[in-house]
Amino acid sequence: MRYLVTSALPYANGRLHIGHVAGAYLPADIFVRWLRLHNEDVVYICGTDEHGTPISISADREGISPTEVVKRYHHLIKTAFDALNIEFDNFSGTARPVHHALSQEFFTALHDEGHVVPRVTRQFYCEHDKRFLPDRYVEGICPRCQAPGARGDQCDNCGQIYETTTIIEPRCKICGNQPVIRETTHWYLQLNDFKDQLERWIATKDYWKENVRNFMLNLLEQGLVERPITRDLSWGVPVPLKEAGDKVLYVWFEAPVGYISSTIEWAEKIGEPERWKDYWLNPETRLVHFIGKDNIIFHALIWPAVLMGQKRSYCLPHDIPANEFMNLEGKKISTSNNWAIWVDEFAQKFPADYLRYYLASNAPEKGDSDFSFRDFQQKVNGDLNNVLGNLANRVFAFSWKNFDGKVRHPNLGEEAQAVLDEAQAIFEKIDAGYREYQVKNNSKLGIDIARIGNRFFDERKPWVQIKEDPKQVEETLWTCISLLRMASVALFPIIPGSMDRLRRMMGLEALQEWEKPDFQADYELDQPEPLFFKLEDAVIEAEIELLKQGSQEPAVKLEPIKDTISYDDFAKLDLRMAKILEAAPVKKTNKLLHLKVDLGDRQRELVAGIAEHYKPEDIVGKQVLMLVNLEPKTIRGVQSQGMILAVDTGQGLALLWADKPCPPGSVVR
Ligand code: 2FM
Ligand code: ZN
Repeated sequence: MRYLVTSALPYANGRLHIGHVAGAYLPADIFVRWLRLHNEDVVYICGTDEHGTPISISADREGISPTEVVKRYHHLIKTAFDALNIEFDNFSGTARPVHHALSQEFFTALHDEGHVVPRVTRQFYCEHDKRFLPDRYVEGICPRCQAPGARGDQCDNCGQIYETTTIIEPRCKICGNQPVIRETTHWYLQLNDFKDQLERWIATKDYWKENVRNFMLNLLEQGLVERPITRDLSWGVPVPLKEAGDKVLYVWFEAPVGYISSTIEWAEKIGEPERWKDYWLNPETRLVHFIGKDNIIFHALIWPAVLMGQKRSYCLPHDIPANEFMNLEGKKISTSNNWAIWVDEFAQKFPADYLRYYLASNAPEKGDSDFSFRDFQQKVNGDLNNVLGNLANRVFAFSWKNFDGKVRHPNLGEEAQAVLDEAQAIFEKIDAGYREYQVKNNSKLGIDIARIGNRFFDERKPWVQIKEDPKQVEETLWTCISLLRMASVALFPIIPGSMDRLRRMMGLEALQEWEKPDFQADYELDQPEPLFFKLEDAVIEAEIELLKQGSQEPAVKLEPIKDTISYDDFAKLDLRMAKILEAAPVKKTNKLLHLKVDLGDRQRELVAGIAEHYKPEDIVGKQVLMLVNLEPKTIRGVQSQGMILAVDTGQGLALLWADKPCPPGSVVR
């Protein structure tokens, strides 16, 4: 069978956190590893999603170009995947020329057939920023579920998409003002043209996960409305129509095309530029998209319709295993509040397999799941160390001590045979489970195989028997090694690095294919080493503390960089060091201090809004930065002759001192 497996293209505007990995990446990597063990023909594709408002908003916020944002995060994201041993055949990016060309071809094919038509439409426009506000440039209340924080193009809470202008209490994301509505022309995809074909197609998908299938059936029942697939933005793939001016394609129109352009890039890299067609232009290919639940509508409805409307016959998604979300210590993961575990950082502190095992055993398959550090510790110490690692340690140590690492295949007694049969039944369940992406249950079942081994070892008490019946001890050890070997296959897709090491200790080759239990082999063990190590309480407590501290870092609201000014504009500001001579609260207010300052050749009085952040006695004698040519203003009866400068840290104000003593009145240049 031929498979083309994809994971949702992460936006190149932030680092990768555990929630991303648990949903769309680790389950896909596990599935692909399992397919490869079965010698299936599989290509695993990903890349960064480099257009759209998530990228341009990040660029605006940081005052850098979208290209710089994309370059930085593409690299960080790829590094994080590498650290977790998530192995794509190709990891591309949608800002590359191959992707631009293909996305334009996709648009043109639909346009030529009349599946895309222009409409004059009403869009939010910010009069302050003098621009249209597509998608994430506007936020408000969801018109479907009433949740706050809904974006212009989609609500994170209910996953629905809607006409942007129906959003309630809209606000410009840049300046916070209420936008107005203006007319603009956009091109609309006629989804209804594909209704029959979509219905026939979905009717063949009775094996889909219920959440995905129901979502799709529901959409079809609601009726398919036309969707705008162009935007008034300066960052993106240009619409290939003269009359579209400098509009770009909607990111969600072109991003999935990235699955194909990344495959084309892969084919070129391996020196067989036509190879991508064997996958994408082959109706037999099983195209499997791993995504998070917020992406269902785009993959199950819009993307298939776009594929159906092409001149070439592309294969359609075979399956769309969408996972739910992972929370963190009982709260929704939030990058803006720094309530997240970053994969690159985590992988520097703990072995990749610890995170892979924990995320797999806790995968958000049927409902949201929760990452908790205590649970992480418990699973690593309990399952990996006390069960799997313990079985390996005791069996290898015993075999070396008493049999010099050589354990021959025995004539199996009934007890041992029963144990192997029990494990083999689990092993077969695991094999079947991977086909249905059941990584959660399979993690548990894989450990159960080792659990059976520990139980058998305890029952047989080889440490007692070694004197009386070494033959029986050899049978015990051989049976346990066979169980470890089964576990090394069963758990390989989930914890490949550790299972490679386990096999090496068993004197076995690295796993090349899904090996059926071998009940004939003799074993010559290699030198043992500990398979896992335990996570101490102190380590886990430190992580919890770090997470809490991180989330308490001031949530500074970063503002866009203001319009450029000339040097002459800057030179108009007269900034000097001022020494505070006196400070006293202003009566009937708890915000203001009345200051007297020394500017070298004169003294000035002013009112500063710093009383909540500084006590008078703490600042007298300090030298602070002051704007001295601000027009005077009378505040609470005091004439304020200038302004001292402070930084808004998000948690209060910080005055600015110089790092060397400066004579009062020294000028800033
Ligand atoms: O939700 C997201 O992070 C999107 N960048 C996923 C895109 S998936 C695909 F269509 F490219
Ligand atoms: Zn605005």
